[in-house]
Amino acid sequence: MSTPDVSKIFGFVPEADFTALRADAEYANALLHTGEGAGNDFLGWVGLPSSITPEFMAEIKEAAAGLRQKAEVVIVIGIGGSYLGTKAVLEALQNPFALLQRERRDPVIVFAGHTISEDYMASLMEAVEGRSIAAVVISKSGTTTEPAIAFRIVKQEIEKRYGAEEAASRIIAITDKARGALKSVADGSGYKTFVIPDDVGGRFSVLTPVGLLPLAVAGVDIDTLVAGAQKMEAATAPSVPFDSNPAAIYAAARYALYQKGFKIEILAAYEPGLQYFAEWWKQLYGESEGKQGKGIFPAGVIFSTDLHSMGQYIQEGERILFETVVSVAEPHRKMTIERAENDGDGLNFLAGKRISEVNRMAELGTMLAHVDGGVPNIRIEIPRIDEGSLGELIYFFEKACGISGYMLGVNPFDQPGVEAYKRNMFALLEKPGYEEQTAEIKKRL
Ligand code: PA5
Repeated sequence: MSTPDVSKIFGFVPEADFTALRADAEYANALLHTGEGAGNDFLGWVGLPSSITPEFMAEIKEAAAGLRQKAEVVIVIGIGGSYLGTKAVLEALQNPFALLQRERRDPVIVFAGHTISEDYMASLMEAVEGRSIAAVVISKSGTTTEPAIAFRIVKQEIEKRYGAEEAASRIIAITDKARGALKSVADGSGYKTFVIPDDVGGRFSVLTPVGLLPLAVAGVDIDTLVAGAQKMEAATAPSVPFDSNPAAIYAAARYALYQKGFKIEILAAYEPGLQYFAEWWKQLYGESEGKQGKGIFPAGVIFSTDLHSMGQYIQEGERILFETVVSVAEPHRKMTIERAENDGDGLNFLAGKRISEVNRMAELGTMLAHVDGGVPNIRIEIPRIDEGSLGELIYFFEKACGISGYMLGVNPFDQPGVEAYKRNMFALLEKPGYEEQTAEIKKRL
């Protein structure tokens, strides 16, 4: 991964303002390592990549191989940090038309528990009829309602089909080491379990079993993913000076922009496979920074697609946006635009060019247009979309998020605001213990 190119923010922020943040960014980075900052009981992700052992990887792969051998479809149940990292990596790596491939060597991964849509759940259960299934259920707290509902349904189906004993070998739970309803169910039913470390929050957990197990089930090369993260862990260490520390540079650039009123950051990519990477990134930054009335609002776009939907706003709407582009240097595949005898569509000027060259010019042209239109630009380049680059990007964004949160003056590792909707939902559902709130809230509807 390249060092972020922040040169296109300097028309909006004096370079001196950015370099003046050097000490703050370095200090924030150091705090993540000394554990002297807010939320210091959730810093297990900081040294996580380099602490992963071959024995741990072997255990993950063995468990994954068991499910791969038993099931055509593996249902991965989780919400937020317990599913977005897996989804992001899978979508980035898999053939977008995998469903049309006639022969599959890897199980199909489907997700549940991230929605309470009845149609979604019913369609999923209908779709897996006649196919062998297994499940990975993930919840750090072990009490989150959305995945708990999905798991009850999936568990009952697996037990009905295969019996309780076989079901126990088709379900793996990833949860807290001791507490939570999921832990009790897993222990009571004899499931294999993996632990989410106490000091790693959900949105920072993709390099724990939360992401590694389902990705290994899907056939992803998790060794290379982890190696990429390890490389970035070293590249963003506090000993690396600001000028060559990608996470510190990115964090300082976005904070400098925020101070100038740029309150919305758009993560843009020109590869549709990165759509869910942007979703993962949105959660990481939104949940980490959006508190105490502060924080950059994270949005995501895929271009060219969204140039024809959001492009107008980005070019000419409120000037509170900045853009961070994740640029991919090389595609995996090769396709050239051929000359046509009759140039009826007028495209012969592109004859002989690869589609990726056109995409690259769309990217560069858009960057300049958006900068001209008042949208500062940060650019990060990866050589190609593969496990190594994704591992680097994941750790890079995590590290920069921790630094950014501290620079902003918030605890980046809590999410107190997520509880508000749950309280209301439980009161409306008349959950035992919520009687007082139930009466009150019903009057407000
Ligand atoms: O980042 C987080 O902590 C959250 O997004 C959680 O991952 C999400 O709320 C799911 O929680 P749990 O894993 O406890 O079910």
